[in-house]
Amino acid sequence: MADNKAQLIIEGSDPVELPILRGTVGPDVIDVRGLTATGRFTFDPGFMSTASCESKITYIDGDKGVLLHRGYPIEQLADNSDYLETCYLLLNGELPTAAQKEAFVSVIKNHTMVHEQLKNFFNGFRRDAHPMAIMCGVVSALSAFYHDSLDINDPHHREVSAIRLIAKMPTIAAMAYKYSTGQPIMYPRNDLSYAENFLHMMFNTPCETKPISPVLAKAMDKIFILHADHEQNASTSTVRLAGSSGANPFACIAAGIAALWGPAHGGANEAVLSMLDEIGDVSNIEKYIAKAKDKNDPFKLMGFGHRVYKNFDPRATVMKQTCDEVLAELGINDPKLQLAMKLDEIARNDPYFKERNLYPNVDFYSGIILKAIGIPTSMFTVIFAVSRTVGWISHWKEMLSSPYKIGRPRQLYTGYDKRDYLPLDSRK
Ligand code: SDX
Repeated sequence: MADNKAQLIIEGSDPVELPILRGTVGPDVIDVRGLTATGRFTFDPGFMSTASCESKITYIDGDKGVLLHRGYPIEQLADNSDYLETCYLLLNGELPTAAQKEAFVSVIKNHTMVHEQLKNFFNGFRRDAHPMAIMCGVVSALSAFYHDSLDINDPHHREVSAIRLIAKMPTIAAMAYKYSTGQPIMYPRNDLSYAENFLHMMFNTPCETKPISPVLAKAMDKIFILHADHEQNASTSTVRLAGSSGANPFACIAAGIAALWGPAHGGANEAVLSMLDEIGDVSNIEKYIAKAKDKNDPFKLMGFGHRVYKNFDPRATVMKQTCDEVLAELGINDPKLQLAMKLDEIARNDPYFKERNLYPNVDFYSGIILKAIGIPTSMFTVIFAVSRTVGWISHWKEMLSSPYKIGRPRQLYTGYDKRDYLPLDSRK
């Protein structure tokens, strides 16, 4: 892959030749691994210019607003596929045949239940605990149930863990919601699709089991597809880093959940709804746009901007279309959607946002659909975590499937040089 080289000229030193590696598509990378021999490191806080690994799973072109999963555009997957088929694609690299799909759906369905003892973990949480706090704790606790039956170097064990996690995340997420309401949990059903099952566990009760609306199930499944994977984002990089130490996959996914929670990342969908509540009315938009532009004000327009997309986030485009469809089909005229659309229009025509290529991202419209489905705001990031589990575990599998090293970055040290201990009585 290295057919040309970069030369680093450092005053007083010999030039350093660094291979330039070329991928299938997208930017070349300069392989700086040889730099250590010169006694120097690269410096890239926030990894703005760093490719942390080689991957075949997802490709993003931020300038063109392109997102491919194993080469398939997200728009085509959202229109033609379903979440479990997308999971198979991300995990295995190809779309399944009919037989492969049937077998995969069946094995997921037969792993949706959790160990009955897992329920005990919920009782340690306050009823008003944020469900993401519960997800971090309970998913990590899966390590206690499966840790001893898992050889991460065995491809079959890796496959079993991936299936268990994809299958059990909706069950645990719905349990977290039911716990917050005081309602009894609903067990998964094998006669329902993945999205139907999740909505069944969320909204049905032992007293009343209503059929799941196909409109809502389709919207839920599409939201799962749109959040499934996104290259080396903060939470996926966290999962890879945790996995590089040999930690078991349940602990790695729990680490990913924790990283996703932040409002700059997966927590943004919940923050968008809070922001829309705070803005309240179209007449206040200009004031909040001014706050977002004010460097002395920590307020940011949640659901806007992206580290990679300097054009439309293609997921946001599909999400907006889905939003229109779901609200129309449900006959909902949500003033929050009108407010969001007006905010979107004003921001996108404002020089500050245009100059910085700030566009709506995946989180800007997702909350409005989730609200229409009946999902409470506090569960929005949990839904993101349920969906992204397949992305996380696919990257974990990919990393472990070939030789890898523990992730261990260095630093630019600007603290004290060596100095001697100061006895207590001589300190001022
Ligand atoms: C996700 O990485 C992924 O792929 C993530 C994700 C995934 O699927 O995994 O796509 C999911 O996390 C989407 C992003 C959700 N977060 C938000 O919506 C929170 C609001 N957005 C910002 O916090 C911000 O845009 C980030 C964190 C998303 C990106 O930050 P960067 O890349 O570090 O960019 P930056 O903060 O340096 O911003 C560049 C400029 C700055 O202004 P200047 O210093 O140049 O004057 O743009 C400004 C920023 O102040 N800016 C914003 C803004 N986002 C950036 N100003 C106001 N409102 C915003 N939302």
